[in-house]
Amino acid sequence: DRSLKIAPSILSADFANFGAECEAVEAQGADWVHVDVMDGHFVPNITFGPSTCKAIRPHIKGVMDVHLMIAPVDPYIEAFAESGADFITAHVEAGPHIHRTLQAIRGAGAKAGVALNPATPASAVEELLDMVDLVCVMTVNPGFGGQSFIDMTAKVAKLRAMIGDRPIHIEIDGGVTPATAPLVANAGADVLVAGSAVFGGGSVSNPAPYGENIRAI
Ligand code: DX5
Ligand code: ZN
Repeated sequence: DRSLKIAPSILSADFANFGAECEAVEAQGADWVHVDVMDGHFVPNITFGPSTCKAIRPHIKGVMDVHLMIAPVDPYIEAFAESGADFITAHVEAGPHIHRTLQAIRGAGAKAGVALNPATPASAVEELLDMVDLVCVMTVNPGFGGQSFIDMTAKVAKLRAMIGDRPIHIEIDGGVTPATAPLVANAGADVLVAGSAVFGGGSVSNPAPYGENIRAI
């Protein structure tokens, strides 16, 4: 399904209210919920791990999209799969054996995603396209919400051509706003992650802005 999907990132939600935030944002029209896992090593920020993902899972009716910004990845795949993640995405830069990591993700029963930092070319995933369900193009250097969009439109277009007819999602992560979304959507992306642009101005007790923000993207 290549229709455009909005995946709010709970990195910009209230960390003391993840369950209610996931329910609110889905009720307001989110297609997927994006869950950012950071380890303070692969990226300069720390969020949470598989036990939090497991706690969030019952509060998401649709797709739970787990983005791992951790290194190493392989020792934790089983735990993230058991947490109920639908997609588990690992970075191509996170270790020397991304092929093994992607095999392990599918082997654990989840859909496999591969993420590319801004400096990593599209060609880095060329040999992986028969083993992934999603390619995530980072449009910020990962670690924080609310950063400004780095234009990766040309990379997205290259990936779209490379992917051909394969049923692989192209996801954009970072700095997505109503101004930047059309650039990447027109280049062939079908999943747009948005944190600050969705959660800004709303809260669990006032969730209507989430819906307005989603529709504006
Ligand atoms: C960045 C994360 C993103 C981030 C996006 O490291 O992977 O998912 O939350 O946040 P915004 O949309 O605010 O750039
Ligand atoms: Zn992310």
